[in-house]
Amino acid sequence: MKKRDGHAVGCGRSGRRGSWTCYIWWILSLLTLSSLLLIVIFFHMAEEVASKTKTVVGHNLEATPWHPFPLSTTSSGSKYDIFRCSYLTCPFSPAKQQLQPEEKTKKKKKECPAWFGWIHEDLTPWRGSGITRSKLEEARSLAAFRIIISGGRLYTEMYYACVQSRTMFTVWGFLQLLRRYPGSIPDVDLMFDCMDRPLVHKANYNTTSSSPPPLFRYCTTKHHFDIPFPDWSFWGWPEVNIDPWGEEFRSIKLGSQSLTWSMRHDTAYWKGNPDVGSPIRTELMHCNDSIARKAQIIRQDWVGESTTGFQQSKLSNQCDHRYKIYAEGFAWSVSLKYILSCGSLALMINPQYEDFFSRGLLPRKHYWHTRSDNLCESIKFAVDWGNEHPMEAEGVGKEGQAFMQDLDMGRVYEYMYHLIVEYSKLQDFKPVPPPSAHETCERSILCFADKQQSGFLENSYALSSSSLPCTLGQPDRNFINSWLQEKQRRVDILQELEMSRLLSG
Ligand SMILES: *[C@@H]1O[C@H](CO)[C@@H](O)[C@H](O)[C@H]1NC(C)=O
Ligand SMILES: *[C@@H]1O[C@H](CO)[C@@H](O)[C@H](O)[C@H]1NC(C)=O
Repeated sequence: MKKRDGHAVGCGRSGRRGSWTCYIWWILSLLTLSSLLLIVIFFHMAEEVASKTKTVVGHNLEATPWHPFPLSTTSSGSKYDIFRCSYLTCPFSPAKQQLQPEEKTKKKKKECPAWFGWIHEDLTPWRGSGITRSKLEEARSLAAFRIIISGGRLYTEMYYACVQSRTMFTVWGFLQLLRRYPGSIPDVDLMFDCMDRPLVHKANYNTTSSSPPPLFRYCTTKHHFDIPFPDWSFWGWPEVNIDPWGEEFRSIKLGSQSLTWSMRHDTAYWKGNPDVGSPIRTELMHCNDSIARKAQIIRQDWVGESTTGFQQSKLSNQCDHRYKIYAEGFAWSVSLKYILSCGSLALMINPQYEDFFSRGLLPRKHYWHTRSDNLCESIKFAVDWGNEHPMEAEGVGKEGQAFMQDLDMGRVYEYMYHLIVEYSKLQDFKPVPPPSAHETCERSILCFADKQQSGFLENSYALSSSSLPCTLGQPDRNFINSWLQEKQRRVDILQELEMSRLLSG
């Protein structure tokens, strides 16, 4: 019996051919073997694919050649994780709901702030010839990544790694725009560079004969065609523990209310990182003397701070001076919005770079314009002036804070919305995600995020808007020209004030 059973189950050479159990045994073994083989092949292929897949956290990417930086070694994760996050998350994500038409007309639309007019100005170079595929291809050589939105879904193509988690938080910002205005974001195809300095020099392009490459980034200058877009820190900056903008503004404003104007120190204050290749910040170190120069300059020790839980760098505790200095870094600095939020008089040192909102600020209305030559004297002059005119100084500080209060995330999404809509109107082709792009969704980003990053991402989900975005005015070159003239007039007045003070001793 034992022997026969063994034959039947084992189906060995001497087993009876044709017996049912024998067939089943063979089939089962074949199935098991082939599934094992399939699993091995799948894992092998997944590893193969993963080792080439470029991700929002920088896998398989080099640093941008135009601004090299040491690549972070922390973006780990196994090959299978890369594969899973890249390919197995989005197909199972639900599509965003369409906003009902009647829902849209519920709330009355308001006009956008006048400075939204810069959206038209930024897109002027393409108004004649349109944004063509070949222009986009030209911009690609200057881009770190490409964003394609098609049918409310977002696709990315990665070219270079960006410092820290900039790519992750910027792509997240685009995804939140889709969440904010479901069903209302048109199809677009755009190139984005996430490094600091603008690259598309106006001097290199003759716009009467051909348009420049359209390139999005976080800032621009009056000498560049780069298109400014809200930077990553609006959704949070985990590396330095800065919360998403909505929360950060609320806590800074609360902190600013703990001291009245007269209780604040009557000196100017700056705290930051001077080692960012910025001559202005280096120069600023020499102004550090709270008695003779009326300025207190503090070096921010981010490495030390990150090990002690950022206790000393809380922005809401940094509103106890009447004057706060804004100094550009390697280009624009994300610190501007936090400085203006304090309600102190912001002393902006002759800024060269502009982000999307700073173009709405006017000297002596929202801030004080400080010269970059004769820096320490210029700061001292502003402080002395403010201490002699406390009502006006406080008033300007409050206007700056009110400007930032108006720039809540709702406003930021309105700006993004109009910029994307106006840009999409200029495309002379229908955006289709190329095979080399792949879908990126909230789940795939969260899949790549570490614990700390997830916390910041989850705190910056957008709420779907119950109303239409504000209405954007028509392109108006006269508005831009008169704005620029007004700004210059105000700078000139301040400089005359300063000169006459210097001359009178
Ligand atoms: C720009 O191009 C136009 C048309 O081709 C030409 O007439 C003009 O001289 C060019 N301007 C410069 C500054 O090169
Ligand atoms: C500025 O002076 C203060 C007080 O003397 C000092 O604590 C601080 O470290 C100085 N800042 C820099 C950047 O040297």
